[in-house]
Amino acid sequence: MSHPLTIAIDGPAAAGKGTLAKRVAAHYGLPYLDTGLLYRAVGKLAAEAGGDLDDAEAMAVFAARLDTSHLDDGTLRGHEAGQLASRVAVHPPVRDALTAFQRSFATGAAGAVLDGRDIGTVICPQARVKIFVTASAEVRARRRTDELRAKGRDVDYARILAEVKERDARDAGRSVAPLKPAADAHLLDTSELGIEAAFRAACEVIDRSLANPNDD
Ligand code: CDP
Ligand code: CDP
Repeated sequence: MSHPLTIAIDGPAAAGKGTLAKRVAAHYGLPYLDTGLLYRAVGKLAAEAGGDLDDAEAMAVFAARLDTSHLDDGTLRGHEAGQLASRVAVHPPVRDALTAFQRSFATGAAGAVLDGRDIGTVICPQARVKIFVTASAEVRARRRTDELRAKGRDVDYARILAEVKERDARDAGRSVAPLKPAADAHLLDTSELGIEAAFRAACEVIDRSLANPNDD
């Protein structure tokens, strides 16, 4: 019997992970977890409570208390919540408190698609397929700017670019679970790929792996 199909999709902010992961999950009939929502929810809870985002132990208490059954309240996906998330995500005790939930999702009998920063390296190193989605910081900042403007927000591209770079540096520079491709990840640069082309490229990688189960 083959193992359940687990797919890890990692990469920096606004690379197109979520868009891709959702389509891949629907295409292969797999449950999907956006792990960024966990860190976003902790950051938001902490900020609302006036907590010190630099206090690792205090942030871990918020992570331990998180109600994972109510993650998507719509307010978590915003740009500001992403910045808060990346500040609480540097703390090892916060990451530890969120690990068990992610692993149990990843190892469910139905298989799963998870997207984040450390899925292929830490949460699910045994994932059947690992895809690291990238794009230049300029392209990613342009996408975020367009996305926010489409929602009616008057945002400045230069500021979004600076924030994207700041978040990249923090995510890649932290001591635990830094943003980096797993050694066996397939790199997918979407700088010049639309959503459809990125999806097709990902399906090729996944289908190849399914057709050759003993390759990896
Ligand atoms: O999840 P992540 O932050 O990596 O990115 P996303 O939310 O999936 O995508 C960010 C934005 O880029 C969305 O508005 C997507 O529609 C857009 N996008 C794109 O223009 N081209 C792609 N190949 C992927 C995403
Ligand atoms: O969609 P976008 O890439 O902008 O953000 P996200 O995936 O929702 O992640 C928000 C922040 O949470 C990231 O900048 C990381 O600092 C953190 N994160 C993480 O450390 N590990 C994960 N598996 C997912 C998110």
